[in-house]
Amino acid sequence: MRRSGLIWFLVAAIGQGAFIWMILAHFGRRTLVGDFAGWNDKPLIKGYVTGDDAGNLMFAVHVLLAAIVTLGGLMQLIPALRRRAPGLHRWNGRVFLITAIIMALGGLWLTWGRETYLSLISAVAVSVDGVLILVFAALAWRTAVRRDFEAHRRWAMRTFLVVNGVWFLRVALMAWAIATGGLGMNQSLSGPADVVLQFCAYLLPLAVLEAYLRAGRSGDPAVKRLTAAGMILATAVTALGVFGAVAFMWGPYMI
Ligand code: HEM
Repeated sequence: MRRSGLIWFLVAAIGQGAFIWMILAHFGRRTLVGDFAGWNDKPLIKGYVTGDDAGNLMFAVHVLLAAIVTLGGLMQLIPALRRRAPGLHRWNGRVFLITAIIMALGGLWLTWGRETYLSLISAVAVSVDGVLILVFAALAWRTAVRRDFEAHRRWAMRTFLVVNGVWFLRVALMAWAIATGGLGMNQSLSGPADVVLQFCAYLLPLAVLEAYLRAGRSGDPAVKRLTAAGMILATAVTALGVFGAVAFMWGPYMI
């Protein structure tokens, strides 16, 4: 069971590495040379808007911190790093949680304040994720301060999953599009499949984590085997989605 969890994590780490790479290569490079309008060379909902200084600044902060929060989350889950460098784990944890909170608040502002969404249902779905990030990050922080490390571990992992909700969504959309040819999807993310995938992007990983944690505590080998099989399935779907995201979504902006 532990091995199946590790394999999933390795596949996800490759996909998250590609996401970070795309962010730095596309948004990072253009921001560094002051080519803000160039953000929109990649398909976006709004991105850079002439004259909207506040909105453009918020967008830049959001998109650049996305690389930090994704990398920070990955580093927190590496057990060897936790054991060998506990000081780094604590500092990286603080940076991760603070960045996650800024990302969630900024994302909520971009969605509702700047009115950046493709459809109302997609705005609601990502906003629920934003609220969960705020709640889970607060609980992960509180349990760490109280030195309740068992509870902290659980809330930290839940925070990791909801922070990566937007990453899961991109991977899930690609996996579904490849597997079904885009059944139930449309351009405004409001098709039946889009709606289900947008909520499942964070609710399903949370449910799988809950099953994984319970199976870890269970003494029944059959439960452990079933959970390992579920993780292998999750790994296959994640691998398909990562392949699709790199090939069709991020690849052109990674060079
Ligand atoms: C905390 C994890 C998050 C990460 C890593 C993240 C990442 C990103 C990235 C990379 C972009 C640039 C668009 C792209 O190239 O795909 C973006 C844009 C955006 N994000 Fe997030 N995001 C996060 C959370 C949120 C949340 C919680 C919300 C809403 C409540 C949100 C709302 C938005 C909006 C509205 C845009 C602008 C889209 C546009 O103008 O085209 N994000 N985000």
